[in-house]
Amino acid sequence: MRPFVTRPAFRLKGKIFPPGDKSIAHRYIIIGALSRGLTRIKNFPANKDCFYTIQALRKLGIKITGYFDNAHKKNPTINVFAKGRFGLTKPGRPIFVGNSGTTLRLLLGVLAGQNFKVILHAGESLSRRPMLRVTRPLRMMGAKIEARAVKNKKEGKSEEYLPITIKGNKLNSISYRMPVASAQVKSALLLAALYAKGTTKVIEPVKTRDHTERILKLFKAGIKLKQNTIYIKGGKELIAPSRVVTVPGDISSAAFFITLASIIPDSQVLIRNVSLNPSRLGIIRVLKRMGADIQLSTNESGRLTTEPMGNILARSSNLKGAIIRKKEIPSLIDELPVLMVAASLARGRTVFEGVGELRVKETDRIDSMMENLKRMSANIGVFKEGKSENIIIEGVKELRGARVRSFADHRTAMSMVVAGLAATGATKIDDISCISKSYPEFINHLKILTNR
Ligand code: S3P
Repeated sequence: MRPFVTRPAFRLKGKIFPPGDKSIAHRYIIIGALSRGLTRIKNFPANKDCFYTIQALRKLGIKITGYFDNAHKKNPTINVFAKGRFGLTKPGRPIFVGNSGTTLRLLLGVLAGQNFKVILHAGESLSRRPMLRVTRPLRMMGAKIEARAVKNKKEGKSEEYLPITIKGNKLNSISYRMPVASAQVKSALLLAALYAKGTTKVIEPVKTRDHTERILKLFKAGIKLKQNTIYIKGGKELIAPSRVVTVPGDISSAAFFITLASIIPDSQVLIRNVSLNPSRLGIIRVLKRMGADIQLSTNESGRLTTEPMGNILARSSNLKGAIIRKKEIPSLIDELPVLMVAASLARGRTVFEGVGELRVKETDRIDSMMENLKRMSANIGVFKEGKSENIIIEGVKELRGARVRSFADHRTAMSMVVAGLAATGATKIDDISCISKSYPEFINHLKILTNR
């Protein structure tokens, strides 16, 4: 347990380099592990989730050096020594993936095409998250998967959860229209497709982050994109790039400071070397619509990366409410909790449409944020409209310090730190140790920017 107390911040000033992007880092290392040759990755983030990916790949026989071995260095570079798509070996024991959903779901895609059996298990929160969205299409491709099935008597539906036993198989290609917009599920299918006979077609209901597609292209996979459809050819070996690849900074981590700079008077924060991938920039587009003063500049650094990279300058502003449509949600899914804080202090009404996916994150982020923000005197409600859930927030003049909870969820914890700094009085958060899941440097960066 690590309780944390915030008091009002008077201004934020300065510059930070956010940690390497968690989503991209998982993908570089997993795709590197399936390729031929040595993949060298710079600015690899030292967070818990990425550590679970490294550990899982090591258990699958992949040699990875230079991670915790040189964690004292500012920008750790890691080396992945791989032997191609079939270079993995059967682990002696079940693999534990912590609470890292990306590690788990992407690995399921990889393991679907191997010729051995693996048991995967996880921590408490990931064991509560639904898996049928990924096990169902992988079974359609031919993977043999056993999971813990639970019937929901009320809704007459069944769902699947960890632990999962997966036995790889000879896979066939499929044409799959995804029922949920999920980059993790899409990525699992694209990775499994590398092992399938023929061309797999994946159709997304709404475009989600496209890091996997970009990285697969860099590694010379046979991949083609056409609007919301991805075609990927099976049977081709991936080739590691000869140059070091760089993980750009994580916009989802930067989001907390972009929001803080926008809502705390007299602030100016420069965030350096962040991924400016349009599929992740929903937070910037929405904050700008709310009246935020944010400038982006790209920097051609000469580094090899699959992402557009640049700087973000955020200054104080007076925010007003906005409508966030369902189709925008995947581009800011992880930033919704902190946007709820911004909306609580904005003039007028903000509506977040179709946010039901928030219920199946590390915690139910609709419940966690509603409970916390209400305790701080925010005006927030959730409404059903057909199948869709909408959050409506009426901005208030001030948030009031209160006792709140992280629910062991990193993004709820960091959002409540932001809310506490913008509130009157003290805010006591029960436990912020979960922040190390994605952003171990968060409190240090906060100290730099608040000069405390
Ligand atoms: C992620 C995709 C999103 C996101 C998660 C990371 C990824 O999850 O919320 O934090 O790396 O692909 P879903 O695919 O479940 O939407």
